[in-house]
Amino acid sequence: MRYEPLNPDLGDALAELFEALRAAGAERWFHPHPLTREEAERLCAYDGDDVYAVLVDGTRVVAYGMVRGWDAGYEIPRLGIAVHRAERGQGVGRTLMERLHEEAQARGATQVRLTVYADNEPARRLYEELGYELELKGDDLVGYLAL
Ligand SMILES: CC(C)(COP(=O)(O)OP(=O)(O)OC[C@H]1O[C@@H](n2cnc3c(N)ncnc32)[C@H](O)[C@@H]1OP(=O)(O)O)[C@@H](O)C(=O)NCCC(=O)NCCS
Repeated sequence: MRYEPLNPDLGDALAELFEALRAAGAERWFHPHPLTREEAERLCAYDGDDVYAVLVDGTRVVAYGMVRGWDAGYEIPRLGIAVHRAERGQGVGRTLMERLHEEAQARGATQVRLTVYADNEPARRLYEELGYELELKGDDLVGYLAL
């Protein structure tokens, strides 16, 4: 499995992952932007300071994630990930998170931030194992990790 920043060649494969995530109901937990083909193509053409990346197995995109906030001028960037349902429970999410932490650090971040619904048990456990301190804010948990 290889890590790749998004690029125009990944448009179709990313659109397929978005469609699979929608079909699996992942939008309830993960909705940083619409999970549509148009959005996949837009993201694959994106050229800015934020990080949008995937893990690829052969020609399939099995996980997608981002670290963003630099473009919008935030001091602490924010992470998000989603893994294809068929690939969960095998360390894919952890691998992508670790890779995104490296990217954030390489761009000068000393901390990253994320939000997670309190009832999203798999994501909570993953983030806690990675060392995030999660704190309830309204209906969401907000987590910070020092890099
Ligand atoms: C959350 C998500 C990214 C985890 O990805 P994954 O590839 O299954 O995670 P991993 O296999 O790397 O698991 C890492 C850790 O996460 C936790 N975890 C993963 N699946 C779990 C489950 N079904 N129940 C409880 N904990 C779970 C465990 O702590 C696990 O560590 P372990 O393997 O040592 O037990 C994935 O379930 C997903 O894409 N969910 C839908 C989208 C989403 O919720 N994104 C996060 C929004 S905040």
